Amino acid sequence: MSNSLSNPNADRVLSPRLRNKIMSAEAAAALIPSGVNVGMSGFTGAGYPKAVPAALAKRIMDANLNGKNFKIGVWTGASTAPELDGALAMVDGVELRLPYQSDPTCRKRINAGEMEYLDMHLSQVAQFVWFGFLGKLDVAVVEVAGILEDGRLVPSSSVGNNKTWLDQADKVILEVNSWQNPALEGMHDIYYGTALPPYRKPIPLLKTDDRIGEPYLRCDPDKIIAVVETHTPDRNSAFSAPDENSRRIAGHILEFLEHEVKKGRLPPNLLPLQSGVGNIANAVMAGLNEGPFDNLTAYTEVLQDGMLDLIKSGKLSCASATAFSLSPAALSELNADLARYRERIILRPQEISNHPELIRRLGVIAMNGMIEADIYGNVNSTHVMGTRIMNGIGGSGDFARNAYISIFMTPSQAKGGDISCIVPMASHVDHTEHDVQVLVTEQGLADLRGLSPKQRARVIIDNCAHPHFRPALMDYYKRSLMHSEGKQTPHLLDEALSWHLKYLRGGQML
Ligand code: COA
Repeated sequence: MSNSLSNPNADRVLSPRLRNKIMSAEAAAALIPSGVNVGMSGFTGAGYPKAVPAALAKRIMDANLNGKNFKIGVWTGASTAPELDGALAMVDGVELRLPYQSDPTCRKRINAGEMEYLDMHLSQVAQFVWFGFLGKLDVAVVEVAGILEDGRLVPSSSVGNNKTWLDQADKVILEVNSWQNPALEGMHDIYYGTALPPYRKPIPLLKTDDRIGEPYLRCDPDKIIAVVETHTPDRNSAFSAPDENSRRIAGHILEFLEHEVKKGRLPPNLLPLQSGVGNIANAVMAGLNEGPFDNLTAYTEVLQDGMLDLIKSGKLSCASATAFSLSPAALSELNADLARYRERIILRPQEISNHPELIRRLGVIAMNGMIEADIYGNVNSTHVMGTRIMNGIGGSGDFARNAYISIFMTPSQAKGGDISCIVPMASHVDHTEHDVQVLVTEQGLADLRGLSPKQRARVIIDNCAHPHFRPALMDYYKRSLMHSEGKQTPHLLDEALSWHLKYLRGGQML
């Protein structure tokens, strides 16, 4: 027996003490009572527990059929997969969910008022638990790639909040997934130097590829009440090939970055890149792969297909993230050659991957999707028509507020042209005008740096709005300028949200 996973045929539970705690998912789920808060691993479709949540969902369904009201609080890294969020939401087993979700059943329950949802900045979750702001964490259910002989845990394909869950929960259930590549061992950097105010020290990370922690997670073995063995793949969806709009958005961003280099405001290899989730973000990465920049780095939240391609082509020298978020094809490719990719990829806890201090120090270029922006540059990333949650703020706020340059992107229209993504007033604001430096749609790019609200309005309408909506936006702006009581950020308050109301009542904004 060796104290590493280097022998691929060896058992993944090398600690004799913890081998004694191996049991079925059903037996482990039976140890989770109603009313508790459960911290689960998982960040996008990577590294989430694959057996216990499903067994727990079955238990909840049976209990509720017998007239009980069995519900738990579910805390994760970010979104997970149907086997976790979907399964628990399906049986109405979630009292409160935090900090980010993107599951259709969850979304439906939240918007129907059947599930409480606390949408938080991802960097803040761990410290809010340390501070005691979120109440007690009762149980942790965490997937790992293996348990070493001395009890150290080899993290799996995401880190998220696992360090905090293992540290703070009263009881811990581990899922040891032998499907996860043993070559993950050594890829992670788990920083244990955090402290509570007023004893905090600077986090000693100066470059994206600095290692400041250790490759393993720690957990007090006395807290571990169950070990469940699984052999189940991660699950992420495939990306669609970049469409024309995504390609045009990517083109505008590349042109902008080249311009910044020419102006001397960015070095030739840019600054560390952060790229949000989704197809547009992936298209930007594809654009960078064909672009003129070399020796790029990434300090980001998730590592998507496009970044893996950049590593493969040699354009990206190092990527730091908290999770993989790869399509099945890209995941196979990664797993086939993980030992090589491991040299260039570091997975960290999300309080470090998304840390404001580090984002500001490194000078990250943040690129995130949005639902809508208003003519003054306020951005809505989370709520459709002001009240219905889509996913959540995720890490977009962590990055946007602290970035060197904060870019938000969207197609200029949604729902076949019935909706303008540039509106008179955002129906919900996640990122204020103060945190948004660049807006991009397929129509063009608005560089808002150094512009006052009125100057911004003209540039956003002219450069980003779809021609179908441009005249009506300009008309709104000009009438606001004439009739608004205050002239700093002119609005017609009785009309500002009328576009959204029109859509809700008649299916079209105009
Ligand atoms: N009004 C109403 N619906 C809109 C809309 C608008 N202005 N803009 C987009 N939508 C709808 C689309 O029609 C689509 O709906 P569908 O799923 O029914 O087809 C859906 O929103 C997603 O839009 P899409 O254009 O495919 O964008 P996306 O996949 O790039 O996602 C966000 C955009 C904003 C939802 C996504 O980026 C997000 O959740 N962001 C917040 C979290 C984040 O930024 N994370 C990264 C930080 S590290």
